[in-house]
Amino acid sequence: MPQLPSVTLQPFQESDAAFFAGMASDERVTRFIGDGRPWDRQTIEDRVRAALAEEALDLAGSSRWFLATETGNRVGIVVSTRKDDGIEIGYWVSPEHWGRGIAGSMLDGALTTIPEVYDSRELFARVDPANTVSAKLLTRRGFQHEAGECGLDRYTLVPAKP
Ligand SMILES: CC(C)(COP(=O)(O)OP(=O)(O)OC[C@H]1O[C@@H](n2cnc3c(N)ncnc32)[C@H](O)[C@@H]1OP(=O)(O)O)[C@@H](O)C(=O)NCCC(=O)NCCS
Repeated sequence: MPQLPSVTLQPFQESDAAFFAGMASDERVTRFIGDGRPWDRQTIEDRVRAALAEEALDLAGSSRWFLATETGNRVGIVVSTRKDDGIEIGYWVSPEHWGRGIAGSMLDGALTTIPEVYDSRELFARVDPANTVSAKLLTRRGFQHEAGECGLDRYTLVPAKP
């Protein structure tokens, strides 16, 4: 298997907001997110503010975002939010970097970082059934497809056998 690119995850900062806004306002990126439309400026600002608020990690709704860089360049973000039924994760790669294994590398890093941050391995993702690339990323890494809701499939991380 070809080697995945070397990607570093670091806490998302205010200075990364413009990079995120560029992705969130790009219809290629939002195609399988929410209603599929690019986010408006207010929505982007609200989400960024919530991500930077650093609410207590045991509170439902608290989120942590991570910027992914490759050789110092921003290439994507990983988002995580505590929900009542686990830690929901998501990942976005800037379209000019698609198809190079960046998401795979980001997810590999996230599967180490996020359980440490939340002290929980109960990770899940909700995926549009048409987003086959995202589904493949998750199943390759031990997530199991379960029935979802609101038209989205749910993928839950199956604990590794001891
Ligand atoms: C989904 C997304 C994160 C994938 O990022 P990426 O960096 O292009 O993904 P990768 O290059 O790591 O590819 C992942 C797998 O899909 C395969 N793949 C990538 N692009 C593909 C394509 N267009 N068609 C078929 N397979 C593809 C890769 O070969 C790889 O498979 P492998 O593990 O067998 O090598 C990216 O397209 C994205 O940010 N989309 C918008 C946001 C989004 O939908 N996020 C997911 C929400 S749940």
